[in-house]
Order: sequence, then structure tokens, then C-alpha cells
Amino acid sequence: MTDSAMNSAGRQSLYEFRDVGLTLGGKLILNGIEITVRKGEILCIVGASGCGKTTLLRLAGGLYRPSQGSVLFDGAPMTMPRQDVAIIFQDYGRALLPWRTATGNVALALEAAKVPAAERKGRIEASLAKVGLADHADKYPTEMSGGMQQRLQIARCLAQEPQALLMDEPFGALDAMTRQSLQDETLALHADSGATIIFVTHDLEEAIYLGDRVIGLLPHPGRVGIEIDVHLPRPRSQLATREEPEFLRLRRELFDFIEKSEGHR
Ligand SMILES: Nc1ncnc2c1ncn2[C@@H]1O[C@H](COP(=O)(O)OP(=O)(O)OP(=O)(O)O)[C@@H](O)[C@H]1O
Ligand SMILES: [Mg+2]
Repeated sequence: MTDSAMNSAGRQSLYEFRDVGLTLGGKLILNGIEITVRKGEILCIVGASGCGKTTLLRLAGGLYRPSQGSVLFDGAPMTMPRQDVAIIFQDYGRALLPWRTATGNVALALEAAKVPAAERKGRIEASLAKVGLADHADKYPTEMSGGMQQRLQIARCLAQEPQALLMDEPFGALDAMTRQSLQDETLALHADSGATIIFVTHDLEEAIYLGDRVIGLLPHPGRVGIEIDVHLPRPRSQLATREEPEFLRLRRELFDFIEKSEGHR
């Protein structure tokens, strides 16, 4: 491991964005991005619509290459998608294959990773069980609620046993109750797997509730405007954590940031 792969807290970094810039269609979308993501942390990204959150996640997923600077994953440039980096999209309806059952959808990830057939069954069952879908293995996506479909997308990613999970507003389309359960399930899966999570959201409270750190982007071009450490104890609780003075203080800080960032439009 190189010195640069260690952060100041002595924890190894998984991602390093070094002076990253990205131009798309002749327009500078992201500029001067410097972000280190530590192994095993949950980093949340917030920012006004159109500021470049999805674009940043696509860079982390190897779906875009930077026009300037570099994105390092475990010390090496991220040049293409990897099996051990899974992406969860907001639009679960389009992410799942309607003609495959829950089992079939999870199998897809394992087929792509060329996991031997004999090994697949156990991994599929384990992944579905982790997200509470063990009894729905034979259902098709259209027979499932939105929350169940999003759980299925998460199960498919878990089957890949990823080092990193990239989540792009994954719960945005769900009702408040389902959203809270999925937040807690995400925290439980994180505690269980130790995966590194980059989580994009519009919801500032969701970012604080989940994150070890929250980064706020400024728009035009997208760049880091604020970075806050979330020193709230884990495990977190929907009621108690959200009532902590520290939670309310961070919420105020992020709201102020977003309000000011609207002035950059
Ligand atoms: N392929 C592309 N070509 C040109 N411009 C693009 C392309 N993809 C995104 N953009 C522009 O880049 C900017 C950032 O887009 P992005 O989707 O990353 O924003 P976002 O922060 O995820 O927004 P939202 O919160 O609405 O999802 C927008 O101005 C968008 O129009
Ligand atoms: Mg987006």
C-alpha cells in the first residue's frame, strides 16, 4: 500500500478523486473534485438538482472516465466497471428484468460474474434472505411493491459481494415508512458486510442519518462546497438519532449550505 492510500485517520482509502474534472457535450460538469473515500465508510453526497451527483457516481462506477485528474480505486485508476463495485439506481423499474423472477434477477449478477452454477443457488437464497425476500423468490418484479423491487435490486448487488456499493437516490420514489425501513436495512447490511458505500440523496436528513461523512456539491460546475463529519453513534435509531442535538446542528448546517448554493445557479 502506498502512503497516499492511507488517510490521516490511518484508515486505508478505497477511492481517491484527485483534481477530477469532467466535460460532457462541451460543457464542464465537474471541476477540481478532491474526495477520499475510506474503506468501510458511508459517504453521502448531497447538492441541488443538476449539480453533478449522478455524474460523480458514474465516475466512481467506471462508467465515465475523467477529462482531467484521476479516479483511483484501491490505488489504481478506475477505467471501466468492475464486478466488485455495484450500482443501485433510483429507477428500480428499469433496473430489474420484468421477465425474470426475483431469483432470476439475482442470478443475473452471478451469471455476469461467471460464478459456477453449483454455487449460485446458495448465494441467491442468502442475498434474498438478507433483504427479507426469502418468501418471494418466485415473484416477478411487477408482482412486487416499490419497496420490494428496490430490496430486490439491493439483493442483486449483494450477491456480487461488492467492495463498494454506489447508491443513486435509491429510496427517492418510496413512501416515508418504506424509506425509513430501507435506510435501516442499508445500515444493517453495511454493518454486516463492511462494504464501502457512496450514497447520493436529495434528502439532507437521510444523508446525516446514514453517513459517516456528508459532502455537499456546489453547481455549475459541480465541485465540493462542504464536507462534514457525522459523529453520531452507531447503531442509529430513527427516533433517537434524529432527536440528538448534534443531528439537528448538522441538519441546520447542511440546510444553510444548500440554501446558499442555490445562489450559485
Ligand atoms: N451525457 C451528458 N451530456 C451533457 N450534459 C450532461 C450529460 N449528463 C449530465 N449532464 C449535465 O450535467 C449536469 C449534472 O447532471 P447530473 O445528472 O450529474 O446531476 P444530479 O446532481 O444527479 O441531478 P439530480 O439531482 O436532478 O439527479 C446537468 O447539468 C446535466 O444536464
Ligand atoms: Mg442525479
